[in-house]
Amino acid sequence: MKKKKIRIFDTTLRDGEQAPGFSMNHEEKLKMAKQLETLGVDIIEGGFPIASEGDFVAVKEISKIVEKCAVAALARAKKDDIDRAWEAVRDAKKPIIHTFIATSDVHLKYKLKKTRTQVLNDTVTAVKYAKLLTNNVEFSAEDATRSDINYVCEVFEAAIDAGAVTVNFPDTVGYAMPYEFGEMIKTITEKVKNIDKAVLSVHCHNDLGLAVANSLAAILNGAGQVECTINGIGERAGNASVEEIAMSIKTRKDIFQDYYADIVTEEIYKSSKLLCNITGMHIQRNKAIVGENAFAHEAGIHQDGMLKESLTYEIMTPQSIGIKHSKLVLGKHSGRHALKSRYEELGYELSKEELEKAYKLFTELADAKKEVFDDDLIAIINNEISGIKGQYEFKRLQITSGTEIIPMAIVEIAEDDEILRESGMGDGPIDAVFQAIEKMTNMKGELADYSIDSVTSGKDAVGEVVLRVIFEGSPFVGRGASTDVIIASAKAYIDAINRAVYSKAKAGEMKG
Ligand code: KIV
Ligand code: ZN
Repeated sequence: MKKKKIRIFDTTLRDGEQAPGFSMNHEEKLKMAKQLETLGVDIIEGGFPIASEGDFVAVKEISKIVEKCAVAALARAKKDDIDRAWEAVRDAKKPIIHTFIATSDVHLKYKLKKTRTQVLNDTVTAVKYAKLLTNNVEFSAEDATRSDINYVCEVFEAAIDAGAVTVNFPDTVGYAMPYEFGEMIKTITEKVKNIDKAVLSVHCHNDLGLAVANSLAAILNGAGQVECTINGIGERAGNASVEEIAMSIKTRKDIFQDYYADIVTEEIYKSSKLLCNITGMHIQRNKAIVGENAFAHEAGIHQDGMLKESLTYEIMTPQSIGIKHSKLVLGKHSGRHALKSRYEELGYELSKEELEKAYKLFTELADAKKEVFDDDLIAIINNEISGIKGQYEFKRLQITSGTEIIPMAIVEIAEDDEILRESGMGDGPIDAVFQAIEKMTNMKGELADYSIDSVTSGKDAVGEVVLRVIFEGSPFVGRGASTDVIIASAKAYIDAINRAVYSKAKAGEMKG
């Protein structure tokens, strides 16, 4: 029997990005979109163009740079939304207009203030209108799992008749149970007369921790598309995670023998790490598939079993998601060639200039610590090489701190070719450093979050600082890495300032 392809519709840049704390700037969205393409997702939902200028521009650019995947833009079932979505996505090789309206009585009564007949008519009008613009129209029945299933079937049938080639059944509030959700999908395949003319999709939220379980139950009951996000980010408790769905299909071949997805699973780890680095949001250590502990075997009895035969405790290998096994990589005597090959093994193609910069940073790091690990190299890329080229660059600092004295700092930064120097006093040495930086950049921020993590283990480990600062009411993430936590903090604060300055300039460009 021919296997059925399960289409992966990635909404990291739409449902994921709209969740608090996960906002990305323009370049970051493009970078993420490119990585999603390498990961092999079938569709990238790039944003909700009518919602903001930023979403509109991002979808427009993503549509131009993505070649292999289709690009979707979200629109309510309204003409203006659909026009804006089409304007954003029309340059894509495979554009999709994704239009939606709620179908549950609670949404109809309190949110839309419409009758079922009106919503049915709106659906048909919206799909027909979108269909004039592109053949590829997806329709979603928001809050489908709390809707009367017979009514959803009626709406789906009308949407398909109007031209929808995908109908999506979202568990918008993450309310369904896997068994029940599977039954709902089965009912749709049985009751919607023209369902063979469309792909049935699901979009599950994780409020009860069941988004992936529900998506898998849907696949087994007839769904041909799953909507999901990297690391499961999304509204509230998030969406179903791409990596968990892809690895479930791959690992449980006995159950999913009739299905496949085109995800390049070896790109999963890199995609997950990239998202964490872009958003500054770490995932919990025990997160399935990509958490730090996902392949760590601590208990003695487990380690013993693993040494005898890895099958005892390992259902999938770290390599299958792209984690390379070697731990110690390079030392201070390693040359550029070794560094370049190591980066290639880790999946990074560096240009000549990037390699030069990475090599300089690597030698500094190798001087400061005896052993340089893969994660240290990835931190160099994410923190120093592939970030936005900022207006300000950290140069050096000096601090005085202790129990009986007021902490003071002198910080030097570069603005283009000019070196700026300032001093600051604060509640602690890090605060003093931030005060000095604020004076030089004329930026006053409010620190909303600060976290420090060691990238690798050992007393000489690289510390990575991730912080969130509010500038003029908008939050900006900043990251910095160093074996010295005060330097890492200074770099992170400057990074946040650079992002704020960049975003202000970009907003000005868009208006002007
Ligand atoms: O959760 C939801 O219902 C959505 C729709 C717009 C598909 O995100
Ligand atoms: Zn959603």
